Amino acid sequence: MASYEDILENLSEGLIAVDIDGRVTVFNQSAEKMAGVSRSLVIGKALKDAFRRDERLVEMLTKTLKEGRLFAEYEEKLHRRLGGTLPVGITTSQVFDPDGNVAGASALIKDLSGIKSLEAGSLRKERLAYIGTFAANLAHEIKNPLSGIRGAAQLLAKKVKDESLSDYMNVIMKEADRLNLILNDMLDFARPARLDKKPLNIHKVLDSVVLLLKDGLPPDAFVRAYDPSIPDVDGDEGQLTQVFLNLVKNAKEALDKNGEIRLTTRIITEFHLVEEGSATGKMVSVEVQDNGCGIREEDLEKIFTPFFTTKPKGSGLGMAITLKIIKEHNGLLKIDSAPGEGTTVTVLLPIAER
Ligand SMILES: Nc1ncnc2c1ncn2[C@@H]1O[C@H](COP(=O)(O)OP(=O)(O)OP(=O)(O)O)[C@@H](O)[C@H]1O
Ligand SMILES: [Mg+2]
Repeated sequence: MASYEDILENLSEGLIAVDIDGRVTVFNQSAEKMAGVSRSLVIGKALKDAFRRDERLVEMLTKTLKEGRLFAEYEEKLHRRLGGTLPVGITTSQVFDPDGNVAGASALIKDLSGIKSLEAGSLRKERLAYIGTFAANLAHEIKNPLSGIRGAAQLLAKKVKDESLSDYMNVIMKEADRLNLILNDMLDFARPARLDKKPLNIHKVLDSVVLLLKDGLPPDAFVRAYDPSIPDVDGDEGQLTQVFLNLVKNAKEALDKNGEIRLTTRIITEFHLVEEGSATGKMVSVEVQDNGCGIREEDLEKIFTPFFTTKPKGSGLGMAITLKIIKEHNGLLKIDSAPGEGTTVTVLLPIAER
């Protein structure tokens, strides 16, 4: 006969249980999938620390535990660690010990996204593909006249003797160059990738990124916590350099004077969230952590949308391109951020076959 544990583990509903002190004791596989969080991060933690962003869930479980109030199929939104929310129904109950004393509380969490969101998902994908082609064509159309404008300005700058006028020419050229960079990013994003994957030492990639971006920061701003024993990843060097350039650049832009960027590598073995299309088992994890301004909660789900930016000179393509490249590597990206405290972006990449 199946043990209780096996039954709980294989339940299609998520199950969260807390003990009398409000510490998480059970967090089954479905709960992991819904919240996008590995149980190792929540078991043993106080409820309110484990689910910082799900205040309603914490409140319900606490009320059930302390006051015996029960909730049935209560509709709520569960925050996913990756960003975004999941519509769920929450049912709570008290847990009693054999003597009839309250020993804890549990919440059964039902995924209500169902077929509707599946439909919305594929529609969204089609729309994104359409926008991609559209953006690529548009970028292409703009590039030619733009290089004409730049060329003409350059010519004029040479001919015009008046210095105050040649300053304006320089502005035209500089802005044309900036536009051109954005257009190249757009084309990168829209183009299907041709990956050249090889076994790759990720520390080499990170070191080259640090070298490129260390200007303007104090010498000890970068902390490298590398695990020297990690295996090679299966990746395209150019594309992965792009990924970490984008992430470290964002971290750098988020910092103030005494900021620190910490790069941590490790091998993840207990990672058992199996997401659609991703590799399972062992992966290399690279964390890019900053103690900068952080990301507001309402922005967290927008940062992967092309052109979403909070920076005056940002193009808002960095994270969109980053996520695309990581997906093409069958990797995963997780982001954790608290305004005023900082941001940690974790990239998981498959290990190269020997
Ligand atoms: N480490 C971080 N700390 C704080 N905010 C961040 C961080 N990473 C991303 N963001 C937020 O996400 C937004 C989108 O990031 P993204 O890299 O896509 O574009 P960008 O940095 O604004 O412009 P670009 O990268 O194209 O120059 C940023 O404008 C910023 O608000
Ligand atoms: Mg950026």
